[in-house]
Amino acid sequence: MKNILVIHGPNLGLLGEREIKIYGEIGLPQINQMIEQKAKELNLKVKIKQSNSEGEIVSFIGEEKKWMNALIINPAAYTHTSIAIRDAIVSVKVPTIEVHLSNIYKREEFRHKSLIVGVCVGQICGFGVQSYLLALEAANNILIRLVEKNH
Ligand code: DQA
Repeated sequence: MKNILVIHGPNLGLLGEREIKIYGEIGLPQINQMIEQKAKELNLKVKIKQSNSEGEIVSFIGEEKKWMNALIINPAAYTHTSIAIRDAIVSVKVPTIEVHLSNIYKREEFRHKSLIVGVCVGQICGFGVQSYLLALEAANNILIRLVEKNH
């Protein structure tokens, strides 16, 4: 069974009450349940973490380096600012998928730039909660391809 770490960045703990027009009415516990359900269907093991602190997100990535086979991260506002999270992803050499609930390219210009996507396999944004579920499918496909390549 493959292990996937899912990280939610700052303010995502407030989903369901925060900017509902943009992010929807579903709270983080419900999103996490949907992630767990999807992981079960795909036979993946998931660990889900949320933090409002950049340093803690960097630590999560380093701490789970050996455990995780892939990383799914919604760095939230740190997407647009964090060289530290980018460097952490490069350091652990694990296939990473960047996720956003909203379509960041349809929003304010400062959200159009991601410092993270350049070190990821790809980015999924704009599909609400579905973005996370699509990322799980993508991670699963990447890991299957990796196994096939090594045989
Ligand atoms: C977000 C988009 C970011 O620009 C924003 O700062 C967030 C959430 C999203 O999931 O759409 O907090 O990552």
